[in-house]
Amino acid sequence: TIDNKVEELLSKMTLEEKIGQMNQYNGFWDLTGPAPAEGAAAKKYEHLRKGYVGSMLNVRGVEDVRKVQKVAVEETRLGIPLIIGFDVIHGYETLSPIPLAESASWDLEAIKKSAEVAAEEAAAAGINWTFAPMVDISRDARWGRVMEGAGEDPFLGSKIAKARVEGFQGNDLSDYKTIAACAKHFAGYGFAEAGRDYNTVDVGTSTLNNIIFPPFQAAIEADVKTFMNSFNELNGVPATGNKYLQRDILKGKWNFDGFMVSDWGSITEMIAHGHAKDGKQAAEMAVKAGSDMDMESYLYVEELAGLVKEGKVDEVLIDDAARRILKVKFELGLFDDPYKYCNEEREKATLGKQEFHDAVLDMAVKSVVLLKNENDLLPLKKGNQKIAVIGALANDKTSPLGSWRIAAKDETAVSVLEGLKQYNGNEIVYAKGADVSIGETNFVKNLKINNTDKSGFSEAKAIAKNADVVIMVLGEHGFQSGEARSRTEIGLPGVQQELLEEIYAVNKNIVLVLNNGRPLAIPWAAEHIPAIVEAWQLGTQSGNAIAKILYGDYNPSGKLPMSFPRNVGQVPIYYNYKNTGRPSNPEPGVVFWSHYIDQSNTPLYPFGHGLSYSKFEYSNMEVVVNNSAEEVSVSFTLKNNSKIKGKEVAQLYIKDLYASVTRPVRELKGFELVELNAFEEKSITLTLTKAELGFYNNEGKYVLEPGEFEVFVGGSSNTVLKEKFDLQWDINQ
Ligand code: IFM
Repeated sequence: TIDNKVEELLSKMTLEEKIGQMNQYNGFWDLTGPAPAEGAAAKKYEHLRKGYVGSMLNVRGVEDVRKVQKVAVEETRLGIPLIIGFDVIHGYETLSPIPLAESASWDLEAIKKSAEVAAEEAAAAGINWTFAPMVDISRDARWGRVMEGAGEDPFLGSKIAKARVEGFQGNDLSDYKTIAACAKHFAGYGFAEAGRDYNTVDVGTSTLNNIIFPPFQAAIEADVKTFMNSFNELNGVPATGNKYLQRDILKGKWNFDGFMVSDWGSITEMIAHGHAKDGKQAAEMAVKAGSDMDMESYLYVEELAGLVKEGKVDEVLIDDAARRILKVKFELGLFDDPYKYCNEEREKATLGKQEFHDAVLDMAVKSVVLLKNENDLLPLKKGNQKIAVIGALANDKTSPLGSWRIAAKDETAVSVLEGLKQYNGNEIVYAKGADVSIGETNFVKNLKINNTDKSGFSEAKAIAKNADVVIMVLGEHGFQSGEARSRTEIGLPGVQQELLEEIYAVNKNIVLVLNNGRPLAIPWAAEHIPAIVEAWQLGTQSGNAIAKILYGDYNPSGKLPMSFPRNVGQVPIYYNYKNTGRPSNPEPGVVFWSHYIDQSNTPLYPFGHGLSYSKFEYSNMEVVVNNSAEEVSVSFTLKNNSKIKGKEVAQLYIKDLYASVTRPVRELKGFELVELNAFEEKSITLTLTKAELGFYNNEGKYVLEPGEFEVFVGGSSNTVLKEKFDLQWDINQ
């Protein structure tokens, strides 16, 4: 068995070699040139040759991966292969929509397929481990990394976590098309105070157990091979040095048998956090807390052997970490063939395959959310309308790739303009109007978003005046969301809002297509603009997908995975909030209730919202409690009351009315993606079991308390169709 093989190998390893497995370096030399002979890189190279490196990240492409793998396999004493990590977040070279966008599809099969495609393409380029999926729940649109997650809801987030892990890892991890996945960032990263990346996280037990943990548990149920801890501190203890998280919960209560990698330099960062006094103590704390692999802190390789020899760290902990890492390497099949991901011909034949483009286009159309469509302005009429296209993002072939697209080349996305021209070549005129930002578009450089140049406004207004329809593509550049891209204003950056208003003054027939990596606060647009399409950053096939939606070749079916606020002051805003002792909607003029004096409590667009060109209607709701089977079935009729075939995400929410730990006003507990022909209706039944009806109490115990529940069904989290039921099961019996 693999376990036996691991033990046999472990028994041959020196302490330093075992620690070596726990050391991960970023690609440190230009592999096209000679091996480094001096400086820090030379030292790392020496470590590599001695077997003191277990993994490398950001080395990609068969030629380069083969080079480093060759050193590990041929030059080290035991020839243990490296595991090669890379941020394959929404594709490798052929990009799917950003993860938040994919999540808007609520289409688990499509999401799984997208991860499968990403895995196959990355694996063909020598990668065998991705640092994905990010399963951090977040309720804060200021945080730039919401683009990388599945939004605000733990139920949807858990289903998506499972789909992504299954997509990356497949049924057989040793297949050359699959790669190991990594559930990150454990834990609480999405709850950074004020949405500022890396900031302090202070959350209570209920939020931790009921909101933050579930997608991580789902990833484990899907057999995820690795976890990554996070940069933040959680309730005063940095996640990297947090024993409660890593040993008590993850490896203890949840029995996780894969390995935990630190985030980049997060072991060293425990010094800045004010938790460790120096690198040596940081290494000691991290290993004791259960961080198995050190990404780029250089501390395990420098400090652990000494700590063991001094008796400060028990060698048992080193064995445990090395064992976990070796096990994943065996499962990947790296010991059978360390070069199994290094096949030049396969790489050539695989990268950018047509099949991948078809798959990412399919994922892209499914990710779009139709936020508003007054007077059926959409879909556009094919071929006979004069169309003005306005906005820098309409003509951008890089921004739609979004953040985390390190292996995709600039300018490889289909722009909106290109997509539209295929439908309506001659009748399209374009003007930029205004830039989104100023400065370089670069992953490691901040874009300045205060563009004030309005010199393009007059040209844009001139073309808008003469058009039947104006399509404005506005929003954020692809690098205005992502890591370290927090914002305190979440409207349209630069002068785009002014541009929108000035164009509206000359032609009200506007379709606003949003490109963004987070929910935006767009109250003016929501009030005035007749049609709004949320198109996120849709990846390589972006423009084709948007054109298909606008012209009705795909009937939009996406639903928001995150609430859109009216303004930034409402953030964090989420549908599954608590009622408070003074809930909303009292008599007019009553002051002392939980509200703002200048803005409503409700979001601009709620979680789960999304329109279609079809008209869906819900009716005949019925709830049956089956005590012997311990199931509650909720049935209803869903009708497509239109002549356009379409898909609807039918959603089910519950409210546990009284509980020992108060429950949210609504919790998503079921959904189904239903396709209906014109005027077709279907009877749908969704089932609730103990797994959906209970919750974690403040002792971290899963309980289901007898009592009354409300259940809601509909096409959004603010649906009004509801029934009640009474539950008398006691799961403790
Ligand atoms: O995977 C990422 C992580 O999410 C943020 N820090 C760097 C890691 C590796 O690139």
